[in-house]
Amino acid sequence: MRILFIGDIVGKSGRDIVSSLLYSLKKQYQVDLVIANGENSAHGKGITHKIYRKFIEEGIDYITMGNHTYSKGEIVDHLSEMDRLVVPYNHVKRTTDNFYKIVECKGIRFCLTNILGKVLIGEASLDPFESFQVVLNETKDLHPDFYFVDLHAETTAEKRLFLEYFHHYTGAVIGTHTHVQTADEAIIHDCAFLTDAGMCGTYDSIIGRDINETIECVIHQECTSYTIAQGAAIFCGVIIDFDEETKRPVHIERIQIRP
Ligand code: FE2
Repeated sequence: MRILFIGDIVGKSGRDIVSSLLYSLKKQYQVDLVIANGENSAHGKGITHKIYRKFIEEGIDYITMGNHTYSKGEIVDHLSEMDRLVVPYNHVKRTTDNFYKIVECKGIRFCLTNILGKVLIGEASLDPFESFQVVLNETKDLHPDFYFVDLHAETTAEKRLFLEYFHHYTGAVIGTHTHVQTADEAIIHDCAFLTDAGMCGTYDSIIGRDINETIECVIHQECTSYTIAQGAAIFCGVIIDFDEETKRPVHIERIQIRP
């Protein structure tokens, strides 16, 4: 089973590059399943029902989220219809039960989950370690072959610590949120690991945000409105292969396509 995991899709330029590359990448890499982080897809913060539907139509199988899950309030009215959306179990707002999905593909049955880090995301998240332990307890009767975790967190150490603590249960721990792809992909303790998958969004930007607007806001402390950068986009993702006999990860490979 080959999974393509796509890093945070940021704004329109991120959506557009995914639209333009997804079909050919699926063909080139013979992908069985696509998971993408969509928490920044609606103008950098959140997702809308319309964007969700377009992602599914274009060939994304499951969409994970993060600290901006509820930034576009309208999704609360549609969550029951968004059955391929997986939101963080430990977000402080718990207005849905789309916390995990059992995914079956090529004889493998895994549990897709989304967990927020705590460090520098403090106000949005409950303790990630306690929360994932609750997920394990709640899902143990579903008997997944492994857990695939989109670990949406800011710091590198917290992500590695999560892997070290939970590797007996996980088959993949893939980081998101920083929008900068790290080069540490590896199979560690029989688990596919990458600190951060990176982003799909405007290359000349501050992690997807307009550079001048960010300077005005952060350095000059002007009251600006959050602006997504426009221009050519980078595509970031990662391919993970699982052996269908052993149901364990055997290969991990980053994809980074710069403009
Ligand atoms: Fe985030």
